[in-house]
Amino acid sequence: MIKAGGKALSAPLMGTDEEPTIFELSKSGRSSYSLRNTHVPPRELSEIIPRDYLRSNHVQVAEVSERDLVAHFTRLSHRQYSVDLGAYPLGSCTMKYNPKICDEVASMSGLANVHPGTPSKYIQGWLELLVDLERSLIEITGMAGATLQPAAGAAGELTGLLLMRAYHSANGENRTKIIIPDTAHGTNPASVTLGGYEVVTVGSNERGLVDKVALAKVLDSQVAGIMLTNPNTLGLFEEEIVEIAQMIHGVGGLLYYDGANLNAILGIVRPGDMGFDVVHLNLHKTFATPHGGGGPGAGPVAVSKRLLPFLPGPRPIEISPGNFGWQTPEKSIGRIHSWHGNALVLARAYAYIAFHGSDGLKKVSERAVLNANWMRERLKDSYPAAYNRPNMHEVVLTASKLAKSTGIRAIDVAKALLSMGFHAPTIYFPLIVDEALMIEPTETESLETLMALCEALEEIVERAKIDPEGLHIEPQSTPVSRVDEARAARKLIPTFDARDRVLQGG
Ligand SMILES: Cc1ncc(COP(=O)(O)O)c(C=O)c1O
Repeated sequence: MIKAGGKALSAPLMGTDEEPTIFELSKSGRSSYSLRNTHVPPRELSEIIPRDYLRSNHVQVAEVSERDLVAHFTRLSHRQYSVDLGAYPLGSCTMKYNPKICDEVASMSGLANVHPGTPSKYIQGWLELLVDLERSLIEITGMAGATLQPAAGAAGELTGLLLMRAYHSANGENRTKIIIPDTAHGTNPASVTLGGYEVVTVGSNERGLVDKVALAKVLDSQVAGIMLTNPNTLGLFEEEIVEIAQMIHGVGGLLYYDGANLNAILGIVRPGDMGFDVVHLNLHKTFATPHGGGGPGAGPVAVSKRLLPFLPGPRPIEISPGNFGWQTPEKSIGRIHSWHGNALVLARAYAYIAFHGSDGLKKVSERAVLNANWMRERLKDSYPAAYNRPNMHEVVLTASKLAKSTGIRAIDVAKALLSMGFHAPTIYFPLIVDEALMIEPTETESLETLMALCEALEEIVERAKIDPEGLHIEPQSTPVSRVDEARAARKLIPTFDARDRVLQGG
């Protein structure tokens, strides 16, 4: 019997916990490719590539046949949950089904097989697509221009902050502070710190919105701007945004819009009209690239007129009607990404926007908002909303009552849902809500799916009353059951032999 990593490899390992790592499958001398004999004489790598550029140390790579490689990753893929498999109500992430037509467009060889360094006269179509995409994004956001370079929301945030810094410096000012509400996503304060600013936190009021009285107290001439997302991370619309914009502009600051929640407002309201100066868009959330697992993504940044001269370059432009090229703005902050950003994510967004049109985009948001409100209403007795008022595309519920009466916390609810075949919602975020369950059903899920998800959540409440111990050890039907999260985080062993070391108590 063949053994890998001490495990017998007789029957297919699909669906068991026994899948070896690719390194355990490795057998010296096996390979996933073979070349037929040719008349070309073989050459040493060092004859072709200067020695200075070659690694001196031995890099361990797995040696497996193509057949075993494909079987291994196919087995692993069968153990994953994905947006294509079912509902993924992970709040703040907009994990929605992505129409396959966007994949088709991004796979077209005229788009996919083009080197980014190709001279512009040969890629007029690509450039037209990028220019059109930028036009669509600035129409959707109500801004004056955009850069398509940043590769994620967080990269967009840093770009936006650098643009704000460049703007203030050009006015001879060295402002030091950025205001952020206490509900903000973690990337906001992280980007502010990375951008060299001091984070000033402002609290929320009893309605879950920015507390204007607290805001007024932190305003002074050192404020470079405020970072907000609207709807905010509680899924609530900042109704006083126009007054907030006046307050910030009144002290010479700028408004940054974190567009992670754009799925709530497409075709309904525009950040530019609310008074924002900089907006990033997570194309991988709202515009058809599955978000999660770290990428690929795109976080274009759109700006108001006064920030246009500072945008990263080169930007795709229409030089004259039907003639496209590149241009770097006069006071550009420089490049944010090599070449032109994650181009195929941009192509997918272009396809998504073209395929929906403005009416379709508006329906996307209307349905996303409707679905989230339907869930809040349906679950109001089992998991009341943290702020009981109409929400936008996501809703923050609390398992606080359940935790007090049964000991079943938000984490137990999330783990039990996995056993019932659903992806879990986001939990314990935003931080200001006790036992938070943040649900974003998205517009792509049917009423039947939403009902099934609610039934599963309600069933957990009933089970909590009679079998709390059982819920504490869920999930039981997933390839990996409940892990010790504190130990996993504190004793992280990010190497392929981690499993053996963990099993040996390392
Ligand atoms: C509100 C909010 N802002 C910013 C981000 C960061 O976006 P990215 O993951 O693309 O860096 C996220 C990501 O989930 C988010 O939810």
